[in-house]
Amino acid sequence: MTRITVLGSINMDLVAYVARAPALGETVAGKEFRTVPGGKGANQAVAAARAGGEVTMVGAVGADAYGSQLRGGLESAGIDTALVRTAEGASGTAHIVVDDTGANAIVVVPGANGTLTALGPAEREAVASADLLLLQLELPLSAVAEGARAAHARGVRTILTPAPVQPLPDELLDHVDLLVPNEHEAAQLTGYEDPYAAARVLLGKVPEVVITLGSRGCLYAARGGEPVPFPAPEVNPVDTTGAGDTFVGTLAVALGEGRPVAEAVAWASSAAALCVQKPGASTSMPYRSEIDAS
Ligand code: RIB
Repeated sequence: MTRITVLGSINMDLVAYVARAPALGETVAGKEFRTVPGGKGANQAVAAARAGGEVTMVGAVGADAYGSQLRGGLESAGIDTALVRTAEGASGTAHIVVDDTGANAIVVVPGANGTLTALGPAEREAVASADLLLLQLELPLSAVAEGARAAHARGVRTILTPAPVQPLPDELLDHVDLLVPNEHEAAQLTGYEDPYAAARVLLGKVPEVVITLGSRGCLYAARGGEPVPFPAPEVNPVDTTGAGDTFVGTLAVALGEGRPVAEAVAWASSAAALCVQKPGASTSMPYRSEIDAS
């Protein structure tokens, strides 16, 4: 079994479903409201666990009702939460609008996630003793960089989702093996809208890149080779929230099992396609048997 540690955020998603997202200054009527466990870190952890990984979560929830619900949700997915801190104050929340095309807009309020600025000895050991470490940017950059460095020093493969996008210091990128931005993040990181051009620039910083392209699939590139496109299965999306996280969590399991990159990317693309056909983030992530059957 692939041992995966996720160092990342845990949020409660407060989701309003609308026909069309409001413009600034506008009020629109919503159709439905749901609270769904989310957070890019927790989502990747759930996706990896459902895909068959043995997952440890390192993160923080608040000392509020959401905090215990979020911890309980991770535990019922079979994830080890011994290293999930309970911080004073509120849990992280994500305020999400999903429209009729399944597209979303998200405001994340870090809450407890923002308190995790540095790792303790047990947390450092958890990131450094896994097969793979999954990182995103919803925790303070200091902790993300510390985790990447500690993992890399012990030969752990590191995968970074650079979201929410921000400038990435070399002290972090030097310890990232695989970077997985979406096309907008790739454009912001490189200045190139063309994902092929963006991939080539990013390969100057990290050895491998996957740029996710939504319904158009993704682009995989490794140093020394040309970017290779992978199509996505054709589906009717109802909610794309967490699709990228599903892709990364599933991909990590496949790579940890030693599957060839092309097979791993195709498997992760199938998982993401299943995710977008159901509402919510962690609630829509497929189990291994469903991915295999799709
Ligand atoms: O990637 C999707 C996630 O982003 C949501 O679950 C939300 O919590 C935000 O962090």
